Amino acid sequence: CRVRHYKFNVVMKNTTRLCSSKPIVTVNGQFPGPTLYAREGDNVLVKVVNHVKYNMSIHWHGIRQLRTGWADGPAYITQCPIQPGQNYVYNFTLTGQRGTLWWHAHILWLRATVHGAIVILPKQGVPYPFPTPHKEEVIILSEWWKSDVEAVINEAMKSGLAPNVSDAHTINGLPGSKTSCGLKGSSQGGLSLKVDNGKTYLLRIINAALNEELFFKIAGHQLTVVEVDAVYTKPFSTNTVVIAPGQTTNVLLTANRRSGKYLVAVSPFMDTPIIAVDNVTATATIQYSGTASTLPTMLTKAPPQNSTTVATNFMDSLRSLNSKKYPAKVPLKVDHALLFTVGLGVNPCATCVNGSRVVADINNVSFVMPTTALLQAHYFNISGVFTDDFPGNPPIPFNYTGTPPTNLQTTNGTRLYRLAYNSTVQVVLQDTGIIALENHPIHLHGFNFFVVGRGLGNFNLKNDSKKFNLVDPVERNTIAVPTGGWIAFRFRADNPGVWFMHCHLEVHTTWGLKMAFVVNNGKGPKESILPPPTDLPTC
Ligand code: C2O
Repeated sequence: CRVRHYKFNVVMKNTTRLCSSKPIVTVNGQFPGPTLYAREGDNVLVKVVNHVKYNMSIHWHGIRQLRTGWADGPAYITQCPIQPGQNYVYNFTLTGQRGTLWWHAHILWLRATVHGAIVILPKQGVPYPFPTPHKEEVIILSEWWKSDVEAVINEAMKSGLAPNVSDAHTINGLPGSKTSCGLKGSSQGGLSLKVDNGKTYLLRIINAALNEELFFKIAGHQLTVVEVDAVYTKPFSTNTVVIAPGQTTNVLLTANRRSGKYLVAVSPFMDTPIIAVDNVTATATIQYSGTASTLPTMLTKAPPQNSTTVATNFMDSLRSLNSKKYPAKVPLKVDHALLFTVGLGVNPCATCVNGSRVVADINNVSFVMPTTALLQAHYFNISGVFTDDFPGNPPIPFNYTGTPPTNLQTTNGTRLYRLAYNSTVQVVLQDTGIIALENHPIHLHGFNFFVVGRGLGNFNLKNDSKKFNLVDPVERNTIAVPTGGWIAFRFRADNPGVWFMHCHLEVHTTWGLKMAFVVNNGKGPKESILPPPTDLPTC
């Protein structure tokens, strides 16, 4: 194992897309940002230097951060932000993980342009559990607004309504050859992949979009899913990949055509178009070597925006590899059985144009961000920052997906749920219809979880838990709760610290769809969080 040093200079960079330019926040002037390469077992040190006017913090999405919560990154959860002119070294070890993850800013909406890939290769000499690819390619999917992204959300918070949808989707930072004016010579869009007949390629797909789940397709080719969120899966073949913000998916592409150019299409999956309608497709091209540039590109049609069945089929096909070498360690007994409703509500708002505003909550609690980082408050026993009385069940039972009940108002609070070290947890996330049913990609920091069940409608404890898959459920760090449905996951609380859980649609997080678990230390030093680094920023 090695020590890998990286330096992330956070700087402004004037960037042109869709024929207009604006200054954006970047790492090292790049959009998307640099890829962080390492191997399983490596110690990674990233020095982040903040040269912009915004506070900054970087999250290493999906890295377990075993006992190193100080390096997790969510602002005001595990650290105070890195203020303008300041710096901080994120220091963590890649334990028991290999695959594709990503990093992103975890403050305001800065992750719109501050994000990049993390590629963790297996330990030296350890092969993939699938045929060795000829080549690998990182594919980051994202969104682009012509206007300043911070202005977009600030406007929305003033009005109390939903923010504007993005002007384009992007593949590795580019919207596509037709619309990327000012970027001539990029006929392949955001992809530089040239393929050869008969060879196999590993595509590392990342959804870095702020607010949209996406479909990913390549004309004329099937894709074999082999890994999600840096966990190997049982391989399965599909023509469409469904990927929510926060998730990563590795697929094998076998170049089984003789020649030609094939369109890569990325389009939104939204089965509740009442909130936002967005039909923009991002495109790129993969090209077989030796293909004449005059040859037309073979096209593909993106699935309609509301293709719930495409999404359901994809989710239902995902299974842990669960081999001897990579077993699925699903907790069979549960210490904490939690039922969390997730949904949108309305609260009065004196400063909002309409006198009310959209809020989002878990079990009717809309999370209030603290001004001292929660992990510090926990570690140093600072009282008055949070309470540990987060409700394990909804306040009132109701038909979650039926007629909206009358309790439109949610409560506010910085409430955490406390777990003993090594206890086992089952969380059922139930989408609720207080104002609208919507899909919620929920991300848990500090852990992977096993997705033991998924369904539409109301969760039924007696009937549905009988059908849980406790053998080879998919293991990941972000899961989309289906619109008007539920998912159930289990994890073992073997990582002491404070761990954020939130919707990875940035707009829902901003509205309050977030909470945190506090996991106590265990007995010995090996079961306790490490002391904070000396350069940890202060608030
Ligand atoms: Cu990728 Cu808390 O986020």
